[in-house]
Amino acid sequence: MNLSALLRARFQTALATLTDDPAPYAAMIRVAADPRFGDYQSNACMSLGKQLGKPPREIAALLVSRLALDPACETPEIAGPGFINLRIRDEFLTSSLFAMLHHERAGVELTDLREKILIDYSSPNVAKPMHVGHIRSTVIGAALAEMFRFLGHDVITDNHLGDWGTQFGIIIYGYKHFGDADVVAANPVPELAKLYRLTNQLIEYQKANKSLIALQAKLTDAQDHAARETAASNAVASDTNTNTNAKEAKKALKAAQAAARRVDAIAAEINAAQTKVKAVDEDPRLAAIAAEHADVPAAVLRETAKMHEGDAENRALWEQFLPHCKDEINRVYDRLGVTFDHTLGESFYHDRLPGVVATLDKLGLTKQSDGAVCVFLDGFDSPMIIQKRDGAYLYATTDLATLQYRQEVFAPNRILYVVDSRQSEHFEKFFAMAEPLGMTDIELIHVQFGTVLGADGRPMKTRSGSLIGLESLLNDAVARAKDVACNPDRLATMNPPMLEEEQNRIAETVGIGAIKYADLSHHRATDYRFDVDKMVALEGNTATYMQYSYARTQSILRRVADEQKIDDIQAWLVENTTADQLQFSEPAERALAIALLRFEEAIEGAVSAYAPNQLCDYLYETAKTYSTFNDACRVLGNSDPIVLRTRLALVMLTGRVIKQGLRLLGIGVCERM
Ligand code: ARG
Repeated sequence: MNLSALLRARFQTALATLTDDPAPYAAMIRVAADPRFGDYQSNACMSLGKQLGKPPREIAALLVSRLALDPACETPEIAGPGFINLRIRDEFLTSSLFAMLHHERAGVELTDLREKILIDYSSPNVAKPMHVGHIRSTVIGAALAEMFRFLGHDVITDNHLGDWGTQFGIIIYGYKHFGDADVVAANPVPELAKLYRLTNQLIEYQKANKSLIALQAKLTDAQDHAARETAASNAVASDTNTNTNAKEAKKALKAAQAAARRVDAIAAEINAAQTKVKAVDEDPRLAAIAAEHADVPAAVLRETAKMHEGDAENRALWEQFLPHCKDEINRVYDRLGVTFDHTLGESFYHDRLPGVVATLDKLGLTKQSDGAVCVFLDGFDSPMIIQKRDGAYLYATTDLATLQYRQEVFAPNRILYVVDSRQSEHFEKFFAMAEPLGMTDIELIHVQFGTVLGADGRPMKTRSGSLIGLESLLNDAVARAKDVACNPDRLATMNPPMLEEEQNRIAETVGIGAIKYADLSHHRATDYRFDVDKMVALEGNTATYMQYSYARTQSILRRVADEQKIDDIQAWLVENTTADQLQFSEPAERALAIALLRFEEAIEGAVSAYAPNQLCDYLYETAKTYSTFNDACRVLGNSDPIVLRTRLALVMLTGRVIKQGLRLLGIGVCERM
């Protein structure tokens, strides 16, 4: 059931009598902002009036006379300058509700336009700790995959693991210089992580040390600049010729402030670099190691290059380490309940990289620049480098090889890359290459997302400066979820009592759901602040609130089942309800019915904008509407079969919609909370 699609289709037919291009006007149907004026509104006549050079109200009257909206709507009303307000007829709502009761997919139909959609998501670089940005990719990608699948599309999920990059050079270097074969063999995951951290710290130390000189110079320049801007701003401000200079003063002040901010930013960079340097210098053991390994950044690149070139020792180490690195991330995926159809990491494409360069050469697209092989693209300031001077291939080269492989093997209509927005330039360039490579029939989309921020409003980090360990984050959310959902006050109301095992299950479902929902409910393009307390709150736009609403529906169903002495109340309701027994006696019933009937619309909207937050918003609205219904409409103790059945159907369908909706977002429910 898709009410707006139905209305759009009817509008399209009527609009075709007024214009040659009715589709864009038919699309101008929205859910009404104020339910007092109707359920939907069309503002097509405002634009159509302009196009036809006639008053919108006149067009609206004409359109309404040609609209065939039976039996879905009451007679449309024309409002204001020419809006058309539409109110769905109660009988249409109740008969749709009846159909939904018998529909296994909560009223959501399969698409007629089935597409093959490949989704590239999660894709962490293994061998270094996975961070919170990869959770966001994982959670958004998985939700998109589920939603597209649910609508009937053919979805292929592929985790493009970074399993071939410098991070392996780092652990190989660490292992060769600081590792102990027996210790690593006995406890590979934590030991490799230690080796990664130590070697990486040495690299960061060298880089920070080196950058400090340049940063100091940059700071001096910025300070000089800021001083000049401030002086200029003060001069304008003290100029007595106030009339002419108000605007200029504002401009000068803005420039001075921007210059001051730049000084602060550089100072912060210096501070961060100094912290890294100090951490090593002030630790005699580390300082000694650092002195001995001054060459580590270059040495790590050499180890990586040797691995790529097929050096036997480094390949053997890679083969030894990779399964352990995968185990590590698989633990996180298990915990999140995420699976992939394919995990073709970067290493999978290694043999194809020379071919990519050769193909581009043959097409005459490459140019040598400073010894590197580059592709210069129209509309970009800098070229795309596909092979470095030392022969190494790049991230972009692998992405091109991956695209060719995906086209050959999967032939998708679309590929979605669910990747951090900081990589947008990479994807713009990479997508621009598709055309010259002759891959014009695949739609390539960078589904970008913003940064997860810590409490301080900066990209989330732990005190040591490394990105926070994911598992501790998940554990933390689960612990808080337990405090909220299973606190003594709530436990006291549970009958039968809630045993420890059930409490733990609830805590896991609520805690993991909270993290996922936080990632999904903010529009993906925005940064958001990670705040566990807000995430697990029982009130507000949280998974916890939705899970709690679901549990309430189930508790009501159980109680009515007890009251009526029926085993399976849902099956009973489906089998024993006739269409004419569904009737509204309260506005809150009607409001809930229409919310439930918008489920398909919400999923459609979310997939077409690649924006799972639209489904979150829908679920939140529905849960709130349910809460209003719950306050206004008693379900228990009703003797009138019409009232009882109508309300039971609404409760049951609310449960189904919330459960299904959360499932699409990768979030579970609890039968009681
Ligand atoms: N491994 C990359 C990272 O962690 C993300 C890869 C995304 N997928 C792709 N096909 N480039 O930043």
